Amino acid sequence: MANFDVIIIGGGPGGYVCAIRCAQLGLKTAVVEGRETLGGTCLNVGCIPSKALLHATHSLHEAEHNFAKMGLKGKSPSVDWDQMKAYKQEVVDGNTKGIEFLFKKNKVTWLKGWGSIPAAGQVKVGDEVHEAKSIVIATGSEAASLPGVEVDEKTVVTSTGALTLNKIPKSLVVIGAGVIGLEMGSVYARLGSEVTVVEYLEAITPGMDAEVARSFQKILAKQGIKFVLGAAVQGVTTKGGKAKVTYKLRKDESEAVLDADCVLVATGRKPYVDGLGLEALGVEMEKRGQVKTHHFATNVKGLYAIGDAIVGPMLAHKAEDEGMALAEILAGKAGHVNYDVIPGVVYTTPEVASVGKTEEQLKEAGRAYKVGKFSFMGNARAKAIFQAEGFVKILADKETDRILGAHIIGPMAGDLIHEVCVAMEFGASAQDLALTCHAHPTYSEAVREAALACGDGAIHA
Ligand code: NAI
Repeated sequence: MANFDVIIIGGGPGGYVCAIRCAQLGLKTAVVEGRETLGGTCLNVGCIPSKALLHATHSLHEAEHNFAKMGLKGKSPSVDWDQMKAYKQEVVDGNTKGIEFLFKKNKVTWLKGWGSIPAAGQVKVGDEVHEAKSIVIATGSEAASLPGVEVDEKTVVTSTGALTLNKIPKSLVVIGAGVIGLEMGSVYARLGSEVTVVEYLEAITPGMDAEVARSFQKILAKQGIKFVLGAAVQGVTTKGGKAKVTYKLRKDESEAVLDADCVLVATGRKPYVDGLGLEALGVEMEKRGQVKTHHFATNVKGLYAIGDAIVGPMLAHKAEDEGMALAEILAGKAGHVNYDVIPGVVYTTPEVASVGKTEEQLKEAGRAYKVGKFSFMGNARAKAIFQAEGFVKILADKETDRILGAHIIGPMAGDLIHEVCVAMEFGASAQDLALTCHAHPTYSEAVREAALACGDGAIHA
C-alpha cells in the first residue's frame, strides 16, 4: 500500500499527460496501466501506428504515381508487408518508451496492472490497495459493437486488428465512413486492396462541413475507394476466412451482399469503464455510457474523469487538454478547456482538418456569416506536390469579421489548421489573419488567402 496525492487509472494521452502535469505541479502521482506499454489506444493501436502505415503507403503512392512525373524513373517499390508492420511497431515502441522515460524524469509511479476503485479514495491494483486524495478515471474507449457482426480480429476486425492483418486483403469492406474507416481504407486502397465503404448516412464523415465532405468523397473515389451510402449493414457472416456483408439501402429497403476477404468495423467507439466498480460506488453515468462529470468531477468526492470516458469528441488531444486542465485544478489552479476550439483532423491524403463551426451549424443557429474560400490550385507549393485539389474555407461573423470556423482539405491541413486555432483563441477577425505576413512559398498562404477572401478578395484566385 502506498499513499499518493493523485492516482490516475489509464496511461493513454489523457492519463499520462494529466500525470506528468500533476507531478510537475508538485503532486505525488501514480498511473495504473495494465498494458505492457504506456500510451493507451492512441500510441499502441490507434493514432500512432495508423500514421506510420499512412506514411508508408503514401510514400508507395508517390513512387507509383508521381515519381516518374518528377523524372524519378525505374521500378516502383514492391511491398514487404511484414517489414511495413515491423516499421510501424518500431514507431510505436519508440513512442511508448518515450512516455516511460517521461514518467521516470517526472517521478510518476507506474502501478502495473488493472485498477479498480473498491471505495472512495482507494485504488486496487492486483492484491494491493493504494490510497489517494484524488482519483482520475482516464480509461478511454473501445470499439462499439454492431448487431449481427462478430469481430474475430482476423477476418472481421476493428481498428486494432486492421493494423496487424496477416496479409493484405484482395478486397476490404469498411463499415462506417468515419475517421477510422477512411484512414484505414486509404491505407489498404494504396496497398492494392479493393476497398468498399458502406455508410449508413447519405454523406461521409458525419459532422464535417458538408462542402468539404463532398469534395473529400470525390477525391477518395478518384483514389479508387468505392462508397455505398445510405446503407445500413444488417450483418456479416464468415466462412473459410472470407466474409459476406449484408446491407439494406435505406431509400428502398432493398438488400444486397458484398463479398470480402476482410471486413473492418468502424462504426464508432464507446467509453471503456469495465471492472472499475463504478456502479457499486454509485457513480452517476450519462445515458450513452460516459461518466457524468462537472468540471471533470464526478458525484463521488475526490473522483474525477477525463478523455473518452466522459462526454465530448473522442480525440486524443481533447483528452490531453482535459488531463492538463484537471491537473491544474487538483493543484489549486484554474484549469480550463475551450471546447469551442478543438481541431479535428483526418490523416488521409489530402488531409482534412476543421475547427469551430461548420456552415450547417451556423445556418441552424441563424447566425449571419460570410465565407472566404481559396483553392489550393492558386498555391504554388500545393501544385508542386500534385496536391492542388483541395481548398481552405474560413467562416467569419458577417458584422464583426470574427473567425467562427475553418475547414481545410489539402496538403498539411492538420498542421495548417492550428494558425486558425490560435487566431480563434485570441478572438481574431479574418482580417487579423489576412494582415499577417505569411512566408512564400508555403501551404499556409492558402489560409491567408481564404482570410483575404473574407474581405476585399484573395490575390491568387
Ligand atoms: P465515427 O463515429 O467517426 O464514424 C462511424 C460511422 O459509421 C458513422 O458515419 C456512422 O453513420 C456509420 N455507421 C454506424 N452504424 C452503421 C451501420 N450499421 N451501417 C453502416 N454505417 C454505419 O467512428 P469511427 O470512425 O469508428 O471512429 C471512432 C472514434 O475515434 C471517433 O470519435 C473518431 O473521431 C476517433 N478517431 C479519430 C481519429 C483522428 O482524429 N484522426 C482517428 C481515428 C479515430
